[in-house]
Amino acid sequence: MASHNYSFKSFSDNDFYSEQNADLVDMAEVGSGQRIIDLACGTGGVTKIIAARLKDAKDSVVIGIDHSASALKQAVEELNDKTSTVVEFVQSRMEDISDSVKERADTVILCNAIHYIPDKDSLLTEIFNTLKPGGKLAFNTTFFEGAHPQETQTYYRKWMLKATRALRNDFGLRPSKENKVQARKQLTPEDYKELLERHGFKIIKQNISTVKFTRAGFLDISTFSDFIEGTMPGVPFEKASAALQKGVNQAFEEMKVEWIPRNWLDIVAVRI
Ligand SMILES: C[S@@+](CC[C@H](N)C(=O)[O-])C[C@H]1O[C@@H](n2cnc3c(N)ncnc32)[C@H](O)[C@@H]1O
Repeated sequence: MASHNYSFKSFSDNDFYSEQNADLVDMAEVGSGQRIIDLACGTGGVTKIIAARLKDAKDSVVIGIDHSASALKQAVEELNDKTSTVVEFVQSRMEDISDSVKERADTVILCNAIHYIPDKDSLLTEIFNTLKPGGKLAFNTTFFEGAHPQETQTYYRKWMLKATRALRNDFGLRPSKENKVQARKQLTPEDYKELLERHGFKIIKQNISTVKFTRAGFLDISTFSDFIEGTMPGVPFEKASAALQKGVNQAFEEMKVEWIPRNWLDIVAVRI
């Protein structure tokens, strides 16, 4: 469907990715009678996992929140009539969540989006104000200091070099320096612990797992608008994603690998 081009959906359907999110939802122990917020829900992949866990639970409500209208449109289509759980979607920036959600929640699930927010202190204050006392924040990310095993640096270098070359040779284009997205400082697990404690949270579960990030996963992430804007600023999506995908294929073939190991950080914390 044309309007869904360059959305997150094709990547979020990769098994290794949805399994990672399902593990986090299980760590959060979502259950009966809860109000659960799926923060930065995107195209609804995680919302679907939460709703499936609540299948037989009574009186539970899931609220998906994202700032992207087009992602939410796709999430509504995804969830439509496919679940017996009550699911609502709200368009909002996650920095404004305490204004956007009227009743306090039992659990906030935040999958692979905390790294988007430069001011994490304000975000944590907002999440604190949105949760009931004793409520849980569960988040995961693969953009933290320690996500890339040392031996995988070669792959990322090759990928970007080959993608940039393909962009130049095939389309006569270069990424624009002016539109370059400011590289965000990545936090260590220890930084996250301090951040959470500063904002009245106590970590009850923490886990780092190594995931097999497949070639199909890299090909799909190459079609996601936010990723394209970060890696090939100012380049039309169609050309940027073709060049990024060519880079993935060439790097995988040259390195003769099937997947690249990547670390994922999972944290569940309780609001004191
Ligand atoms: C990598 S996707 C993850 C989507 C979903 N959680 C999943 O795992 O399938 C990140 C999402 O964060 C959303 N996002 C980024 N910045 C945001 C903000 N400031 N407020 C609300 N949503 C935001 C994007 O629109 C995108 O849908």
